[in-house]
Amino acid sequence: MIKVAVCGAYGKMGKEVCAAVEADSSMSLAAKIDLCGDAYRTIEEAKQSCKFDVLVDFTQPASIYENAKYCLRNGINVVIGTTGLKDDEIAFLEKLSKENHIGCLIAPNFSTGAVLMMMFSKLAAKYFDNAEIIELHHNQKKDAPSGTAIKTALMMSEAKETFKKGNCPEVETVKGSRGGTSYSDIQIHSVRMPGYIASQEVIFGSSGQIFKIRHDSMDRTCYMPGVLMAIRHVADQKDFVYGLENIMD
Ligand SMILES: NC(=O)c1ccc[n+]([C@@H]2O[C@H](COP(=O)([O-])OP(=O)(O)OC[C@H]3O[C@@H](n4cnc5c(N)ncnc54)[C@H](O)[C@@H]3O)[C@@H](O)[C@H]2O)c1
Repeated sequence: MIKVAVCGAYGKMGKEVCAAVEADSSMSLAAKIDLCGDAYRTIEEAKQSCKFDVLVDFTQPASIYENAKYCLRNGINVVIGTTGLKDDEIAFLEKLSKENHIGCLIAPNFSTGAVLMMMFSKLAAKYFDNAEIIELHHNQKKDAPSGTAIKTALMMSEAKETFKKGNCPEVETVKGSRGGTSYSDIQIHSVRMPGYIASQEVIFGSSGQIFKIRHDSMDRTCYMPGVLMAIRHVADQKDFVYGLENIMD
């Protein structure tokens, strides 16, 4: 039985994680940590009062780096869903994880469907000359483009160095109408709209054909199979992993 603590337990994602852990017969919910409600206020407080094998963090960008360092320095395997870690911070967490032999899995997206969309986009990339990404999110999202769109472009760029744009000199009469340029010159377009949770479409084109790969998150339960997979992985392997695609077989 894997004992799990959830940090950010009363947030939108944290509540789903608590419910998913409680519904899984191979896990038990050992502690809730949050700044509100009847939860432990800090990871340290929870650690002094109860035992857990894995901590799952869905808090906020401002606290994730400190939380993760605390876990990796204090023998707690950690699954990180919180976004906002910088590249140098991720590199340091990798170092701590390896030095201390503590499991650490960071995933910008835990939805298995979204990860497959990225993997399939990488696979398709080498067969098409043109590719553009449209990502669509709820209107409370603070960053644009989404981390998933950037990661998709990065994975596609590993398969193909450059993509074509239009086939003629382009003039933007409305600034920004062609979107933003990312890895391998792939254009990314961001839509913010009430009603969406998270959607993304990757459009590929070449002479005479269009190929589209689309993923829609209808509610936050879509992240839970990936989170449970990550919990099992860090409890068992105690290694460092960045990206859910690396443990999906
Ligand atoms: N990786 C993924 O697949 C994925 C999916 C959705 C959201 N996210 C990310 O997860 C994070 C949380 O998202 P959300 O929508 O649940 O946010 P939310 O605001 O609904 O919940 C965050 C919770 O964390 C608590 N919290 C904040 N700081 C804390 C701290 N230092 N210690 C303990 N608790 C703390 C808050 O009180 C709140 O209850 C965000 O960074 C978001 O971008 C990741």
